[in-house]
This record gives sequence, structure tokens and C-alpha cells, in this order.
Amino acid sequence: MVFSVALLLQYCGVPQPSASTATAITSRVDSLLSVMTVEEKVGQMTQVTIDLILEDDETTVVDMEKLRTALLEKNVGSILNVKGSAYTIDQWHEILTAIQTVATEESHLGIPVIYGIDAIHGANYIKGSTLFPHNIGTAASRNPEIARRIAEITAAETRAAGLPWNFDPVLDIGRQPLWPRFEETFGEDVYLVKTMGVATIRGYEQDGLNQDHTVASCMKHFLGYSLPATGKDRTPSYIPETMLREWVLPPFKAAVEAGAATVMINSGEVNGVPVHGSKYYLTTILRDELGFEGVAVSDWEDVIRLHTRHRVAATPKEAVRIAVEAGLDMSMVPVDYSFYDLLVELVKEGTISEERIDVSVRRILNLKEKLGLLDNPFPKEELKNRLQLPEYDNVARQAALESLTLLKNEGQALPLDKNTKVLVAGPGANSLGTLHSSWSYIWQGSDESQYPEKALTIVEALRNELGQANVLSRSVADFEAEANYNIAQLKQDARDVQAIILCLGEKAYAESPGVIDDLNMDEKQLALARAAKETGKPVILVLTQGRPRIISSIEPDMSAVLLAYRPSTFGGPAIADVLFGDHNPGGVLPFTYPRYSGDVVLYDHKGTERIREDKPNTYGEGGFNPQWTFGHGLSYTTFEFSDLKVNKTSFGAGDELEVSVRVKNTGARAGQKAVELYSRDLYASITPAAKRLRAFTKISLSPGEEKEVQFTITPGELAFVNEEGQWVTEAGDFELMVGNLKATTTYVE
Ligand code: BGC
Repeated sequence: MVFSVALLLQYCGVPQPSASTATAITSRVDSLLSVMTVEEKVGQMTQVTIDLILEDDETTVVDMEKLRTALLEKNVGSILNVKGSAYTIDQWHEILTAIQTVATEESHLGIPVIYGIDAIHGANYIKGSTLFPHNIGTAASRNPEIARRIAEITAAETRAAGLPWNFDPVLDIGRQPLWPRFEETFGEDVYLVKTMGVATIRGYEQDGLNQDHTVASCMKHFLGYSLPATGKDRTPSYIPETMLREWVLPPFKAAVEAGAATVMINSGEVNGVPVHGSKYYLTTILRDELGFEGVAVSDWEDVIRLHTRHRVAATPKEAVRIAVEAGLDMSMVPVDYSFYDLLVELVKEGTISEERIDVSVRRILNLKEKLGLLDNPFPKEELKNRLQLPEYDNVARQAALESLTLLKNEGQALPLDKNTKVLVAGPGANSLGTLHSSWSYIWQGSDESQYPEKALTIVEALRNELGQANVLSRSVADFEAEANYNIAQLKQDARDVQAIILCLGEKAYAESPGVIDDLNMDEKQLALARAAKETGKPVILVLTQGRPRIISSIEPDMSAVLLAYRPSTFGGPAIADVLFGDHNPGGVLPFTYPRYSGDVVLYDHKGTERIREDKPNTYGEGGFNPQWTFGHGLSYTTFEFSDLKVNKTSFGAGDELEVSVRVKNTGARAGQKAVELYSRDLYASITPAAKRLRAFTKISLSPGEEKEVQFTITPGELAFVNEEGQWVTEAGDFELMVGNLKATTTYVE
């Protein structure tokens, strides 16, 4: 049967629109709203986890009695997540068919459920799906087009499973390297986060939500989640208004402009105010200022936590009132029905008006309508073959290749000759977990048995490429296993090889389990590096990690350093391709890699952040001393910039600046180069940053080839947020910089 809410409404005697125009959409939703009970409305605002409707912990079989409790007794309008690990496409179809059958055939109005999932770096909750590099690596590619393509594939696979809503992308800015979700960010620069974030949303939603290959995106986590003062997950952030507006808000603003359908709220608190309870953030900024009209969903359990954790609500009921009054549309409750019961009470007793909940329910129904769920919410059999296509693998491999960032290459230690016999050592050498990390078939990404056969560890990929005999390794999958840290063995094995590929970094983790107390790489791994150096063989360090773990004590001992971030399914072969020269690396850092844990100074620091009065004669200069700065990344060829020009020596409000630069490949290999335009405001009423990224592109050049790159910049793109919280471009001189070149222009009001 093809289900249609319209048919049901007709049956209930509710007048129906004739055409599916935008107005008609509103009318259909209005018609539904006009006949819904308070309970049905509150149910739409309630999201629960799949655990509540499954038979038991071991199966994916839906317990029909539990499902009816959720959908018919509690009127639940949304469900999320997997229990345990990824499901096959058949399991998803069975689960969703059961849910939508009860929703459409047995409930009063037949409103379907909207199912949401975290398809982060690929459709990670569909068994066997290809996974792409985490955002931090995609940002290193400086290729928004590949971010868009990744999102398109993720959307197609997610929708093929019958899932229309993806809790992605993360638009939190990566400026606190301790934060365990750093790998989910696009790095420290706001322009980069904004550009990659918008590309991702376009990939998910494309030109409309009601398509077999699109999903509703969910920009998250609004607002300020990634900047906890201590670096610990879900702990307080303190963000001055100027910073909030200049660094934190713009990616969300751009996402709203790009049409993002939904938003998820930050679990934490900003300046002492839990965001879930803040009318200022959820209504004044999100709705009134940004003009967001989509659905705002809470994060996991965060409404009740206004009472249990944040203690701004004296009772659970008070917590529900505060969150709804602040502007929340849907509560990811998700492990019980408390939100539903309490909100029904609050509306019935008149504490919260029915008009208020109508606003949220209308948004939720609009979303269901736009996704086509009101016409047909069932998974489509014919989409099953849209899964795991070979072309998806090509994109994943390309994305991994473009993300890899060569940080050091002393004496051109890399690429290695393919006849080199290597020892591949360290905890990262034979682990799929470290290549994938969070949201990889299970939440933590730590179950090696979940990975598909096509995913190869670094050792496996190297053996494929160089032959078994040339690759010696004793590393095992379990990152923490003692075998991975055996110094005596490493020294003995090194005698038989010409180079050591040392794979260090971080094990898989997601969210709070990834919390650390120290940004320094742990001593066990550093000891391995020192031992490797003592063998006298060249040591190539390969880092698979989600954040910059400090390695300054061993870096001088390493001949080369390759940062792989979390490259996922094709990370192993991509790393092998770079190490042995089949691919010329072009990734550049999306964050500043600190040299010391107590010296985290970002590339766009204030001039005064460099002051170090303990270093005579370096005032204003001595304090920016990272291991590697934002934008750093080497190649096997060399590039030269020349002829940086700006078309106007002075410009005004209505003008555009045309900036051009010539880029030449001066080496012997073809390569890709990220060309980045930075600006520096020489004097401003708020202390100006040392430099700010304003535009970037990536070009390919064959040996000897030269190209001109052009950027267009408006005065608005050189603006900053002043003391009054307003965006301004102040009169005065600006430097525009590409590489080590500089051009100056003056803004005249
Ligand atoms: C995370 C969100 C995620 C949600 C649902 C939370 O713990 O913070 O990013 O979307 O769980 O899985």
C-alpha cells in the first residue's frame, strides 16, 4: 500500500490542498495541526532511542508491544541510533518498515516517524559502508568539492537504508586541541570551517530534501561546544561576545543561509548558561538573528540534565519548561518518556501554551513533509543497490590521499624506494581503529571485527604494495597491547631492515571516552621513538591521531613525519602510496600543531599573544613557536609564488579587490598546491590578529608549469566584530599575503 497522510486527512474530513506548492505544504501541515491532540503534538517533539523498541540487547528485532507503547501510547514522532553496532541494509529496512507500518496504519493520524542517525564520515551505521576521512583530514585537503562529494555519497547510502535525517555536520571550531571531538571538526580557522561545512550541507541536501539521494542535515552543536576551558568533553566554555560572533557563530550563519534543515544544541554551558536552557542562544540568536526556520533538536539527554547536571532547574519538570521556553523543538530524551509526560502536564496545566508547542510541531511536520515522509515514509527496495558502489571507494581513496600531510622530510627521506626493506612498528601499524576512530560501525570505532575486508591496516597495505618479504612487522590490532611497545624486539628487528616506519598516535575514541589530561604523546610511545632512533636507521613517523599530540621531544630524531589524521577505509593504501612515492602529498594543516602543551597559540593569534618578556629583545616576536603552523604541508616537489598583485591601492565600501598571484612548480614532480590568501589589518579598534585566512584554492601543476590564481575579496570579508558586537571594516591599511609575499592596500570609508 502506498501510504499518504493526505488520504487519512480526507478520511478524517480535513480539507486538502490541491497542489504540492510551498503554500500547499503549509496547508497540509496546518490541517494536521488543527486536528492533533496535545498528546499527539508533544509526541512529535519527543525523540527516543531504538533501545526502547527492540526485543533485547542482542537482536535487531523490533518488539511490537514496545513499539506500540512508543508510537501509540506516547505518540513518539522520532527515533534515533543503533543498539550496539552497524546494521545491514536489510535489517534497517525491516526495522523501519515495522516502525512506519505502526505509525501510519495504527496511529490516529498516521503521521510517520522521522528516524535520525549519526552518519559521520560516511554511513557508519550501515554495515560494510565505505568510510571517509574525518573532517579534520578533509579540511587538510583544502578541497570543498571532495567534502561535498563525501556528503552526497553518505546521503545516498543513508537514504537507501530508509533513513532521512543525518546528525551531521559538526560546525564546531577546532581551537581547543584537548577536546576529544577535535577530529570531528574542520579545524581552527573559521573561514575553513564555514567553507567545508557549507559544502557538506550542500552535499547532504542538494536541491531538495524529497529525493532518494538526499537527507536532512543537522548542523551541530549550536553553540560553543568545542571550546571547553579544560578541554574535557561537555564542560563549560567561556566565550566573550566578540569571539562568539567572529569565530563561533559564522559557520552556523552560513549553514542557515545554505538551507540546513535542522540544528542540534550544545550539551555544554557557555558563560555559565546551559545552551539548552538559553532563550538568548536558541531564540534571539538562532531564530531572530540567523532567521533559522528548521527543527532544533536537543543533544542526548540534555533536557533532564538542566536539572541533574547543570542545576538551573530544581525539578525535571522545570527542566522541560526551561528548554521548551528557550526555543527547543525536539528533545532527544532518549531513554525514557519523561519529557513527553512532563510536557503534556505542562501544557495541560497551562504553564506552556499550546500555541508555543504548535510552533515546534509545525517545524517538525514541515520537515517530514519536505522529506517526503508524509507521502511515503517506507524504505525503498529499489534503493538497496545504491549501497557500497565502487565509485564511492574511489572518492574515499582520493579523500584520504588529499588529506595526508607531510610535516617533515629531512634530506628527502621520503619517498622511499620500493625495494627498501622496512620495519613497520608501533601501536598504529596494524590497527583499523586508529585509522577510523569515532563513529565507525560502532560509536567508539574500537571493534576491529566490525571493519569490512576492504579496510586495510598500514602493515597490510604496505605488504600488498611491497610484498610480504619487504615488510617486517609484529604490531597487533589492539593499540594498547604490550607487543606494540616491545623495545628490545624493535631494536633486534631493525637490524634486518633499511628503514623504520614508526606508527604512533591515538587509539580509537569518541566523545567523552576520548578525554585526556595531557596533550603530550604518552611516554610509552615516545620511548619507542627514541629506541627507533638509537638503531641508527632512518625513522619515518606516521601519525594517526585525531588531535595534535605533542611530539617535540622526539621530532628532531625523525627523518620524516607524515600526519594521516583519521583517514579511514582507504587510509592504509593512501599512506603506503605517499611513503613509497605513488602519490605526491598536498595536504596542509587545518590547525596549528603546538610544540609544547603549555603553549597552544593559534595561527590567528593577537600580536600581543607573542609577547614573552623572559626573552630579551624578542618582544612581540618570540612567542609564536609552534611545531608546525596552520597551512604547513610539504610536497615531493617545490612551488614558488611570485607577482602578488592587488588591483587597487585603496578601496571603499562598494569595491571588490582582485588579488592575483603566480604559482610555479619548480621541482621535478607533478603536485597539488593549496594556495591560501591571508590578510592582516594593521591597526584596528579591537586588537587585530597576526593574520586571517580569507580565501583558498587548490591547483595542480606539472613540473615547470605556472598558473595564475585569482581571488576576489570584498571589504566585508576583511571585517571584524567590534566592541559593540557589530561587524565593521575600519579605515586603514591591510596587508594581503600569499606564501612569503605581501601586497598592501588601504580601506577608505
Ligand atoms: C553527541 C551527538 C550525537 C548524539 C546522537 C551525542 O552524544 O553529542 O553529536 O548526534 O549523541 O548520537
